[in-house]
Amino acid sequence: MPDSSHKPKIAIGADHAGFHAKETIKKFLAAQGYEIDDVGTASEESVDYPDFARQVAERVAAGRVQFGILMCGTGIGMSMTANKVPGVRAALAHDIMTAHLAREHNDANVLTIGARVVPEEQTIAIVREFLNTSFAGGRHQRRVDKINELDKENPARNK
Ligand code: RB5
Repeated sequence: MPDSSHKPKIAIGADHAGFHAKETIKKFLAAQGYEIDDVGTASEESVDYPDFARQVAERVAAGRVQFGILMCGTGIGMSMTANKVPGVRAALAHDIMTAHLAREHNDANVLTIGARVVPEEQTIAIVREFLNTSFAGGRHQRRVDKINELDKENPARNK
């Protein structure tokens, strides 16, 4: 039985293009003992990616989960939408290096993946790298603070 007591809770979502990859990632996360909040979608029937990006991003911003993972065809629509939610720093990662640096340098709290771009067997490695990498702080904290200032300076834009 995996030990989930020290694992962060993760919200996960996908559109039809990312559905299959989402199911694969879910199985991996469950086997690792992560608590998962799956917002859908539940099939390969065509849906709109912003509906799922929004639900995951709002859970992260509210502190209901520590991280979000989103899949669509390219990962682009998911990252665009999630980054509209104040407090969210969503990163589109294509490989282990970008997944690593998204956490280490950018303190990303949402990972997006293009299911039509990245081979499915590589998505697990990307997710694992993202979840196992800590934010480095230091000079990177100053830069992340400057990202976060935008949420405070432009509240009307974010309504
Ligand atoms: C759906 O066809 C596709 O546009 C979507 O999955 C995603 O790639 C958008 O960014």
